[in-house]
Amino acid sequence: MNGTPHTMIEITGLTKAFGSYTAIDALSLKIAKGEFFALLGASGSGKTTLLRLVGGFEFPEAGQIVIDGQDVTGLRPNQRPTNTVFQSYALFPHLTLAENVGYGLLNLRLPRTELAARVEDALARVRLSGFGGRFPHMVSGGQRQRVALARALICKPKVLLLDEPLGALDKRLREEMHLELREIQRAAGITFVLVTHDQEEAMSLADRIAIMARGRLLQVDTPRGLYEAPKSREVAEFISNVNLLDGTCLGHVGREVRISVAGIGDIRLGSDAAAMTAGAKVTLAIRPEKLRFVTAADAGENRLTGTLRAVTYAGDRNHAIVDVPGLARPVLVTTPNRDRLLSEPQTPGAAVTVTWDSTAAALLTD
Ligand SMILES: Nc1ncnc2c1ncn2[C@@H]1O[C@H](COP(=O)(O)OP(=O)(O)OP(=O)(O)O)[C@@H](O)[C@H]1O
Ligand SMILES: [Mg+2]
Repeated sequence: MNGTPHTMIEITGLTKAFGSYTAIDALSLKIAKGEFFALLGASGSGKTTLLRLVGGFEFPEAGQIVIDGQDVTGLRPNQRPTNTVFQSYALFPHLTLAENVGYGLLNLRLPRTELAARVEDALARVRLSGFGGRFPHMVSGGQRQRVALARALICKPKVLLLDEPLGALDKRLREEMHLELREIQRAAGITFVLVTHDQEEAMSLADRIAIMARGRLLQVDTPRGLYEAPKSREVAEFISNVNLLDGTCLGHVGREVRISVAGIGDIRLGSDAAAMTAGAKVTLAIRPEKLRFVTAADAGENRLTGTLRAVTYAGDRNHAIVDVPGLARPVLVTTPNRDRLLSEPQTPGAAVTVTWDSTAAALLTD
């Protein structure tokens, strides 16, 4: 099993235990060449352990890791075509930025001029040309982060492993670094595996994301796939806010299905309708921004009525919480502030009607 030509990393049946605790549980995964891949999950889900296994800092009890066609399962970190940027990207404080970047190449014993050229090239890649003579304390946190990246890129690894590399930066700087990281990855053409517990970071950076929990992968998909078509309750709830409705399929009406939802009544579903049979118990996921307030007369077939509990103003949008008699959990409705004047219901206690399109809901299949 040596992977296919476009596979960079192929993990099969990987298991890692710490004592009696199984941190990685028979996990399999393929990552393509040149892909920007993110591992996303709650604290303790096994992200760092998986990354350390791929980098060769931990060894598994069972399973196999193949990188670019080579079985690396038993190899040490320096024998693998990988490089790792750890969360604490410690630079040597007594070395200049150029010396920090060149450190990884020292054992190659390159001629001085060639070493200098490679260091300058790596600094240019992270937009730090001309900064080589400075010491780490003379640059910003974001610039230090880019030096750590340059230090990892200069070795020209096939795979760069990044463990929460932006964790120490403030929100503004993180967002700037997102764009830069993406551009650096595209320009270098290197496969990136990024560990993060920040959903927005994973969504804006990665080609595909694996959602981890309990040492397993819940779903591996594009950012859009995870958001619009979560397969399970757990993934739907992990990625942002969601409304979950339990119901029973009543049967097909043209290309739609009619679903009876306890506490709401009958609704129509246009997406995923083919996957349903009459009588089946189903759970639907609807994101809050796909719901809207209407007057009772304007509501379509998909409607619910309830009482406004609270509205939170968030500048570009409002988050409303609606209590629906018969539903165990309140319904979340996010509405854009298209107008500077108040246009949405605001008064707690008001009776409201909410509607949505029949293609707005996703059927959970796991
Ligand atoms: N060396 C170790 N010895 C014992 N248990 C460990 C060791 N390393 C990790 N674990 C345990 O394995 C589980 C997964 O840890 P891991 O560091 O991979 O989580 P993570 O997803 O990276 O979490 P975080 O987001 O907090 O960094 C945790 O329960 C952790 O306590
Ligand atoms: Mg971690």
